[in-house]
Amino acid sequence: MNTQKRRILVTSALPYANGPIHIGHVLEYIQTDIWVRFQRLQGHQCIYVCADDAHGTPIMLKAEADGVTPEQLIARIKEEHQADFKDFHISLDNFHTTHSEENQQCAEYIYEKNRAKGHITKRVIKQAYDPVKQMFLPDRYIRGECPICDAPDQYGDSCENCGSTYSPTDLKNPVSAVSGATPVARETEHFFFKLGDFEAMLKQWTSGDHIQQQVRNKLQEWFDAGLQDWDISRDAPYFGFEIPGAHGKYFYVWLDAPIGYMASFKQLCATSELEFGDFWDEDSANELVHFIGKDILYFHTLFWPAMLEGAGFRKPSAVYTHGFLTVNGQKMSKSRGTFITARTYLNHLNPEYLRYYLAAKLNSRVEDLDLNFDDFVARVNSDLIGKVVNIASRTAGFINKRFAGRMSGRVVQSSMYQDFVTAGDSIASCYENREYSRAMREIMALADRANQFIAEYKPWELAKAGGKEELLADVCSLSLNLFRVLMTYLSPVLPVTAKRVEAFMNCPVCAPGTWQSLSQPLVDHRINPYQHLMQRMDIKEISRMIESSKNQTAAPIQNGDGGERADISIDDFAKVDLRIARILQAQEVEGADKLLQLTLDVGDHQRTVFAGIKEAYDPRRLNGKFVVLVANLAPRKMRFGVSEGMVLAAGPGGSDIWLLSPDSGAQAGMKVT
Ligand code: MSP
Ligand code: ZN
Repeated sequence: MNTQKRRILVTSALPYANGPIHIGHVLEYIQTDIWVRFQRLQGHQCIYVCADDAHGTPIMLKAEADGVTPEQLIARIKEEHQADFKDFHISLDNFHTTHSEENQQCAEYIYEKNRAKGHITKRVIKQAYDPVKQMFLPDRYIRGECPICDAPDQYGDSCENCGSTYSPTDLKNPVSAVSGATPVARETEHFFFKLGDFEAMLKQWTSGDHIQQQVRNKLQEWFDAGLQDWDISRDAPYFGFEIPGAHGKYFYVWLDAPIGYMASFKQLCATSELEFGDFWDEDSANELVHFIGKDILYFHTLFWPAMLEGAGFRKPSAVYTHGFLTVNGQKMSKSRGTFITARTYLNHLNPEYLRYYLAAKLNSRVEDLDLNFDDFVARVNSDLIGKVVNIASRTAGFINKRFAGRMSGRVVQSSMYQDFVTAGDSIASCYENREYSRAMREIMALADRANQFIAEYKPWELAKAGGKEELLADVCSLSLNLFRVLMTYLSPVLPVTAKRVEAFMNCPVCAPGTWQSLSQPLVDHRINPYQHLMQRMDIKEISRMIESSKNQTAAPIQNGDGGERADISIDDFAKVDLRIARILQAQEVEGADKLLQLTLDVGDHQRTVFAGIKEAYDPRRLNGKFVVLVANLAPRKMRFGVSEGMVLAAGPGGSDIWLLSPDSGAQAGMKVT
């Protein structure tokens, strides 16, 4: 083990400030926190910072939909995120936001340096523009029919039905997800970061042990494909930082997001003894370690080191990438109740259960990890309660009651104690290398040995036998010594229980440097009365947690990746003007396979609407039928004419489409309520 005191700055990826922390995120923060606590326990200086990722189109639009300013939205979310982290015992030294002065300064500095060195270029591009909302549309905000399989309502960059990827201009019948208008292509000047300038440096940097082997392979594919210029600007309206000297142009959220690591650390420097340059200067000998998920590799292993290099800062010592969390073998899902927010989890279960379960499954590879509820309950109860806590609960009481809390003056079977101490080297290297599951296995194997020892000597029988006082004291004292060693090893995972053990055993357990001092067992040591340490996990709580996740209706917009769309309020719904209309005429549209042109009687006037129902209805059968019309939908210009509203129908599409067609009592123009 490295005995020199290391100085390490650690980060986790910045969560987006438009939705709650969920247990998928929690995986990353727990993985990081265990590593950080382990380093501190070893006596190293380990500073852990994070921040909210507060910029970008989804946050801007979510604030608008909520009727608040983006600043109000991100302030509220930041409070929630911080409470979640605190309650999962994530030991952050600082949590900031990318919408901050520090971040603006750092972002402008890094941009300026790169620009001065010629790493920024400008180019006019064509991008989809929403003429109604008057904004450029990110790919994810354009929806339409898949150009490959015709599946309706697909994103602008990929199809959820057939999995193909394409450009938004390929979508059939594209509409803006923001306003429903048909996007038009519009030219705009964008700023690009010339990633290719850094190819040699990146190839060298990524060949070192800064990253995992699997990641290196992935990067090789990207190198082979050629490094492209990176578009780092967005047009107003945008929630972010305006680019210096470029009115109406903003830094793309991903430009200033990683700089948020720096900004959060900078804020911490202002209120502590820490020196910014100690961790960021080009020649810094201290470590900079990032923990991230596999979806954001490109940003952290290519753009970020390149930006840092271009600006004259040091590059990361390590980028550690983990896989994704699945629940019961599947992607987290709202309808199955497995999209579990951090808060919902905390309302039902002890955070240390999840910390332990994830530790027992995490390794250093980029592998997805499954939270299986049956396994979760079984594992926590059998390992933590059945193996670990059991050691203390079966022996501490005798020391308290029979020996006035004083442990024996000697250590019997000292070779067993020594084995436990020696095992610490291997366990430490597992933690260091993020092989937590192996660390947990080794710790549980030791716990099995301690339990065998207790089962062999049966302190409860020694206590009844009479005349075996000395042996009873020795057996229970050794058990408690072994228990303490195990709790020190587990303390990065179970910080709260470790603290409790510290209190009841009246000795250091998780204090910095304890690991090294374990070679000295406790002899003739006074402990305090045993306090209950941890409850068994009840499977009923899991069912309740799933139920309550199912009942949560507030579905946040994910920043593109989650695919969840926001629910609307009743007030939003009330804005939709639904009216009964009578079809006066339905006719085919030349050149369109799916459309019919409908002339509608809306009571006091007539309208033309194009509806994609040709496969389901013969136009001659439609005359005189009633339909429900969205009467206040913004008119949409189509290739064949302007569509003045939308006709509601049900069904999966194609030839299975059903129009509402009330026979009697309906009247054109009637409001639908
Ligand atoms: N804001 C960006 C990161 C910017 S870092 C400069 C982002 N945010 S996120 O909220 O979508 O994700 C935050 C982290 O959580 C990422 O590392 C992401 O990989 C991770 N996870 C999100 N969902 C996850 C799972 N289901 N499982 C494991 N990790 C997951 O990306
Ligand atoms: Zn498709």
